[in-house]
Amino acid sequence: MSAQRLLVDVHTHVYLPRYAAFLRTRSSVPRIFTRPSPESGKPEERLLILDDEPSSGRPIGAQYWERDEKLKFMDRHAIDVSVVSSANPWLDFLPASTAHTLATELNTDLETYCSAGPSLSDTLKRLYGFGLLPLVPGATTASLISTVEQIAALPHLKGVIMGTRGLGNGLDDAALEPVWAALEAARLVVFLHPHYGVDKHAWGDKENGHVLPLALGFPFETTIATTRLVLAGVFDRYPGLRVLLAHSGGALPQLSSRLASCVAHDPLVAARLQHDARYYLGKLYFDAVAYGAEELGFVSDAIGRADKYASAGASAAASSAKGTDGTAQKRLGAQRMLFGTDHPFFPPLSESEKWKSVVENLEAIDGVYGWDEADKDAVRGGNAIALFNLGS
Ligand code: URA
Ligand code: ZN
Repeated sequence: MSAQRLLVDVHTHVYLPRYAAFLRTRSSVPRIFTRPSPESGKPEERLLILDDEPSSGRPIGAQYWERDEKLKFMDRHAIDVSVVSSANPWLDFLPASTAHTLATELNTDLETYCSAGPSLSDTLKRLYGFGLLPLVPGATTASLISTVEQIAALPHLKGVIMGTRGLGNGLDDAALEPVWAALEAARLVVFLHPHYGVDKHAWGDKENGHVLPLALGFPFETTIATTRLVLAGVFDRYPGLRVLLAHSGGALPQLSSRLASCVAHDPLVAARLQHDARYYLGKLYFDAVAYGAEELGFVSDAIGRADKYASAGASAAASSAKGTDGTAQKRLGAQRMLFGTDHPFFPPLSESEKWKSVVENLEAIDGVYGWDEADKDAVRGGNAIALFNLGS
């Protein structure tokens, strides 16, 4: 099959057996615990990872840790390649020395998970991964840089997944500068993923299960973290840094002109950035985990106009976006969007051959007005092959 026609899942998670075993030893969140199933009375494992989620947590099973289950899921949905990442909350809750040791071990585990898995061809495996950095309060620069170096040396790890807390002060913390520099130099992709949501008081006291934190809290967390990165000038200082945003960047595309206006009216920040805030959308990558064609189309439109907002003379590419019609702009934006599933989260509630979360994301790509077949192929897999430099 041509590399341009592959289906590549860039947003797909695992709790590696070592991590799941660790969660089973814990008595506070995050933890995995066993309870009798309310239906059958048989013991069943449950996952509790969010501070304020219902105390019954969520069902968890082999889909979260068994490589064969990941491959079965991929086969069932015709996914050729997955770039697998540890699921939240990563190592965020651990003391620095434990986080460093566990990161090192889990990175080696993930390399084995990928390398011992099947291949599609002599040069292309079915599984690649994002490693983990020990990003916790008190982590030393030396520990972070040595873990970047470890990941860069593992052939199947193509990036790192990280949450939004950094060393405890967010991702615009000056202490992270050496980390951005090292990730840029190592050409590792940063997959920025939420975990904490926003202030739980925003949700009121009605019981709405996981809906509000997952549907709104997660994407707003990503929106805020990415905006802080932009405002700190990180993309000006590290133009080669490649950051992939979970859930299509949350609300950032929708709010980017408002953001640009607020920056332009604020002398403190306006002087700090080299470009209009909208420009930075064109420096980012967005997964296509938005579940709707209109949303994907909108995001691609917002990304595709980014070069129009380069400061004068800054970008030769700027002129290519200027004067294009809306369709050309959306097609340009599609070059930075990548298919994902969020597996094994969002399993179907009743027996079904295919997962609704996957089918909806594929249908969304297929239905974007203004994208042609080449654009859709790029979003389904071609962009991932290029971004992660797979198969060469
Ligand atoms: N819920 C989570 O906690 N993490 C995900 O990645 C998706 C859903
Ligand atoms: Zn996810």
